[in-house]
Amino acid sequence: MELYTTITSLQNVLKAAHSKGLKIGFVPTMGALHQGHLSLVETAGSLCDIVVVSIFVNPTQFNDKNDLANYPRTLESDMKLLSTTCCDYIFSPSVEEVYPVPDTRNFDFGNLETVMEGAFRPGHFNGVAQVVSRLFEIVLPDIAFFGRKDFQQMAIIKDLVRQMNFPIEIVACDIIREKDGLAMSSRNKLLLPEYRDCAPKIYHTLKEAKYLANLKTVSEIKEYVLNQINATQLLRVEYFEIVDDTTLLSVKNWNEPGTKVGCIAVYAGKVRLIDNIILDIN
Ligand code: PAJ
Repeated sequence: MELYTTITSLQNVLKAAHSKGLKIGFVPTMGALHQGHLSLVETAGSLCDIVVVSIFVNPTQFNDKNDLANYPRTLESDMKLLSTTCCDYIFSPSVEEVYPVPDTRNFDFGNLETVMEGAFRPGHFNGVAQVVSRLFEIVLPDIAFFGRKDFQQMAIIKDLVRQMNFPIEIVACDIIREKDGLAMSSRNKLLLPEYRDCAPKIYHTLKEAKYLANLKTVSEIKEYVLNQINATQLLRVEYFEIVDDTTLLSVKNWNEPGTKVGCIAVYAGKVRLIDNIILDIN
């Protein structure tokens, strides 16, 4: 495993891989790695010859300066973790390397970027699209791997690939959870113990919603989830939406066609957690 911090040095080694016709898998991350990230790396290793992992805390996707400042940066332990995986190359560039000049591009993802995360984190997905398109152009992977944990991000990335005609396959990977059900996240490290203790309530309630979906209406489920989680004093729901998994449009009735997903954002103190669950309606 090797670490590269400049575009030229990474591209030099990748050139050889490309010319040999090797399949390149790419896992973009912001570091503070956990098993969720590592599962993406393992999936990449099972489908590709070469695995590139980027570690870059992208400033343009943070709409909150404190969130950017507090985001955990743990390159040394990330490298140790990656050395136990099939990662071949780590790309960990500086901000100046990725953005030698400010990125002023404005993407348009329509409805996909105006709901849920897009509504509460203005500019977030534009920043994600800026960095992911930049990284795609640098790495030129055959396949890129993303987690379903960031459900809306996945929809945005698929649309980005479509809009920009990137010849890249996007593979969606399942959510990896702690034993108590909390979705793994780099932000979990920031939870104070009392908040960490009640955070599993989020997934617990999503599972209840999945069970109850066959017995209650869409609006009853929404109300149920809000009430259950807000009843826990230390948790505050920012939104809970039930949406179609491709259009992300709000579902009104269970009998509408398509797969429905319950998506939630919750504040546990100052830490913002997101999660989601597929609601199968029989
Ligand atoms: P980050 O939050 O570091 O996540 C990197 C990748 O890991 C994303 O595709 C995310 O969905 C996936 N991931 C995170 N937690 C997961 C879990 N518990 N189970 C499965 N996959 C999980 O998402 C970003 O970084 C950034 O927005 C990025 C795409 C790198 C652009 O800056």
